[in-house]
Amino acid sequence: MKKALALLLVLVLMMATVGSAGALTVAFSQIGQESDWRTANTDNINKAIAAEGWELVYDDGQQKQENQVRALRNFISQGVDYILFTGVVSTGWEEVLTEVNEAEIPLILLDRIPDCADVIDYVAAFGGDFVEEGRRMALWTANYLAKLGRADEAVNMVILEGTTGSDAAIGRAEGIAEILTGYPNISVIASQTGNFTRAEGQTVMESFLKAHDDIDILLAHNDDMALGAIDAIKAAGKVPGKDIIIVGCDSPKTAFEAIIAGDMNATIECTPLYAPFVVQAIKDLEAGVVYDKTIIHPEEGCFDLEGGIVYSLDGKESVKAADVIDQRLY
Ligand code: AHR
Repeated sequence: MKKALALLLVLVLMMATVGSAGALTVAFSQIGQESDWRTANTDNINKAIAAEGWELVYDDGQQKQENQVRALRNFISQGVDYILFTGVVSTGWEEVLTEVNEAEIPLILLDRIPDCADVIDYVAAFGGDFVEEGRRMALWTANYLAKLGRADEAVNMVILEGTTGSDAAIGRAEGIAEILTGYPNISVIASQTGNFTRAEGQTVMESFLKAHDDIDILLAHNDDMALGAIDAIKAAGKVPGKDIIIVGCDSPKTAFEAIIAGDMNATIECTPLYAPFVVQAIKDLEAGVVYDKTIIHPEEGCFDLEGGIVYSLDGKESVKAADVIDQRLY
């Protein structure tokens, strides 16, 4: 009798644990590892899941949509409790994400938001405001030119775009173009993808420099490409940060170092640190809290050599990189 009671107690305890936050399996379909940002993002999410004692099922899509589709289907067959998803491009996800919905696995969208977000179900979404980041890159540049006394000068800009078809690249391009309509003195003379990688940033910048000897400004959709471009600019005998004004996006420590060294002029922040949002969301959802479909954007800043340059339409001012580099977490 005692034995039967003890067995019953163990069973009750086991059942209480199943379905509680302690027994969760969280799957994460990541794009790949193209940038410092992405490495920091993977690390941040994966460590946080492990720290909660949840089981992690991680898949690196290696920049291929078909790998991510396969991973999502594997997550469904494994019957995971939550799926975290960011897609390498924004289109082509509706079929597989509908399968996730049909399997009734709560889906959390992270970083890049698929264009089918309006027609699929998701339980929470945390992503970058890519259009706003693009606006900020262009606005900081225009205000920096004014600070240099070059506001009325006709200047030439080149752009290193992110992965073609990704909402990060589409949004940043849109935000840049929107602001530039107000600055007819800034002409975009070349714009090409560098795929968000340092290596491609370097090779595409080399080709820009061969084709144009009059480049004044480089906007890079991420800092990895900006850092690759700096190598190309130095190799071409020009001085990055002076002969060519360089503005990137993401704000990893490596960009701060380049700014402090005078090689780069500014970086617009795009945080990869989504773990606190994700962990809280899972805990809330387990407790029955329902999130609406709003995409939550973290607060983000802008960093440069001296600070004090307005980078947003609502008047926010840049912060001096040297003052905050020690606090950077990525
Ligand atoms: O989606 C976020 C972007 O993707 C980051 O700016 C970039 O570095 C990354 O690869």
